[in-house]
Amino acid sequence: MKGIVLAGGSGSRLHPVTRAVSKQLLPVYDKPMIYYPISVLMLAGIRDILVISTPVDLPAFRRLLGDGSELGVSFSYAEQAAPNGLAEAFLIGADHVGDDTAALVLGDNIFHGQGFASILAQQVARLEAEKGCVLFGYPVRDPGRYGVGEADEDGLLLSIEEKPAKPKSNRAITGLYFYDNDVLDIAGTLTPSARGELEITDVNRAYLERGDARLFDLGRGFAWLDTGTHESLIEASQYVQVLEHRQGVRFACLEEIALVKHWITPEQALALGERQASSGYGDYVVDVARRAGAADR
Ligand code: DAU
Repeated sequence: MKGIVLAGGSGSRLHPVTRAVSKQLLPVYDKPMIYYPISVLMLAGIRDILVISTPVDLPAFRRLLGDGSELGVSFSYAEQAAPNGLAEAFLIGADHVGDDTAALVLGDNIFHGQGFASILAQQVARLEAEKGCVLFGYPVRDPGRYGVGEADEDGLLLSIEEKPAKPKSNRAITGLYFYDNDVLDIAGTLTPSARGELEITDVNRAYLERGDARLFDLGRGFAWLDTGTHESLIEASQYVQVLEHRQGVRFACLEEIALVKHWITPEQALALGERQASSGYGDYVVDVARRAGAADR
């Protein structure tokens, strides 16, 4: 499966903060926002990841993430000239996906919950066996701000609407989507919506009409955090801070995930940690590498 992180857009709801800096590079407590969605793809076992952003912001993402080889993954980069909609990711990323399945994650979506890695692995395996698409639902108080879906007892998607005035359920469709290779053709047939965008909800509706769209419910034991406003952004930072401080672990630590996946050795992780050792994040990577057996140098 190939991964795409969509990290463009104008960030206008966070102006002036995002006038000179991409929203997806803003800190969520101790790391840039984009670390969180990248960690989701890595946890799903995806090593080939395309980062899409605006022509102005793309160099900063490249500076932050490099080619990925230090983490045992591959990061490549592509421009989205204008915010023409989430589904444009599959027109821009068609060569990257090739004849493989694809996972799209929005660069501002933060997920956290027990057993997420195994949920992701199960859903990747299911998608590869059964085709179609897998969407991830989450109960929210204000579903009308999101894509909203309904599913039957088996998780088959029954309806999907984008920002409905009268939501049929409280199930928001989160910004993580798994698709079979047909997504490339489907994205190619879309026409822009009333707001002038190629809507991911229209892609999902095409799968719904085919009868092979599934909705996996993340449920209330999970956290799917919003980063759309100054308030929600600071709450997301507080959430990460409280849990990391209490538990002594960091989440979305890319070096740790690469190590756990055996994509890098403890020695390589140690070197990455030492390079950032003047920060708490770097110290944590050093600790994790030592605990995994890296010898002192
Ligand atoms: O976060 C989940 C929601 O994301 C879904 O529930 C909705 O169905 C989906 O349409 C989307 O809704 P949003 O209102 O959050 O979409 P927004 O236009 O804010 O874009 C989401 C992120 O993607 C944002 O960080 C900007 C980025 N983006 C957006 C567009 C339209 C791009 O990189 N390129 C784009 O063309």
